[in-house]
Amino acid sequence: MANLHIYSDFIYYKLYFNSAVRKTAKFLSVRENLSLRVPRRHYADEKKKEPPPPKPKKLMDPRRVFKVYRFAGILTKEEPKVQTYELDISKCGPMMLDVLIKLKDMDPTLTFRRSCREGICGSCAICLQGHNCLACITAVPPAKTITIYPIPHMYVIRDLVVDMTHFLTQYNSIRPYLVRKTGPTGIGQVQLLMSDPDWQVFVGLYECVLCACCATSCPSYWWNGRRFLGPASLLHAYRWIMDTRDEDTQKRLFDLRDDFKAFRCHTILNCTLACPKGLNPGQAIARLKRLITGLDKKPTPQMDPLGGGGGGGGGGQSSLESCIASKCKK
Ligand code: SF4
Ligand code: SF4
Ligand code: FES
Repeated sequence: MANLHIYSDFIYYKLYFNSAVRKTAKFLSVRENLSLRVPRRHYADEKKKEPPPPKPKKLMDPRRVFKVYRFAGILTKEEPKVQTYELDISKCGPMMLDVLIKLKDMDPTLTFRRSCREGICGSCAICLQGHNCLACITAVPPAKTITIYPIPHMYVIRDLVVDMTHFLTQYNSIRPYLVRKTGPTGIGQVQLLMSDPDWQVFVGLYECVLCACCATSCPSYWWNGRRFLGPASLLHAYRWIMDTRDEDTQKRLFDLRDDFKAFRCHTILNCTLACPKGLNPGQAIARLKRLITGLDKKPTPQMDPLGGGGGGGGGGQSSLESCIASKCKK
């Protein structure tokens, strides 16, 4: 009986021992698994965490209403009117010229000028929401209703196409080409040289594309457009006067000594605000006025255009008075 009792105790302890071993093993394995599943967190890791992505912006409704000036031309009896078009701008390019092309697809009678679609030819000038701009380099404004008119104070030929004859005649009057009096005067006979600092004067002048956005936003040009040359032509006049290869400075300055041609500019700077190429015609006119009145002189060229020693060309302003005297005698 005692043996039986010892034997049953032995079995009991063996079972108890086995169960304890199993429990310990299970605990260890769970801890192991836990430690695998949940790696230890480091403060440095938490810092590297990416910020949450920004909430997507609310997309604007791409539908727009375009109010476009329409005029069939003076040979018709039709009155000018404003025509309304509705367009989903997500179906065309992002620029105003893309919109105009899309509108022309919808209505082939709509007329406007364009050529380069790069802001180079200057032909697509329009008045958009009351501001002059080049349609090809101006994005569609975010407004719901968008007005498109021809550039102001010009004779309208048809729809957005204006008559540029007077503007270009004025531009031509400033003789926008090089005048040489010494050495070979034929075009292409010889290369005329210019130093880099002399050339730097042209930066902000040569980029003008004659779009007329500046002239048609100038109040003085509106009221005196027949006699005041306007900012674009005067900017070019200044450009040719400052050209160190040009030899007609005195005549150019003499031709501008007039109450109207340059001095109707009152430095309001609407032209500078309007220029889609970011130029500053107002500043060019202010400098030109100082040259005309003799407050400033054309700088002496740093390089002889014909490649000889010393400065040449320009002709300086010292003989302006003699030029005036000879003109007055005539
Ligand atoms: S500065 Fe004013 S007045 Fe002079 S050209 Fe420009 S807009 Fe016209
Ligand atoms: S100065 Fe500017 S706005 Fe005026 S014609 Fe030239 S590019 Fe156009
Ligand atoms: S199309 Fe040439 S400047 Fe706009």
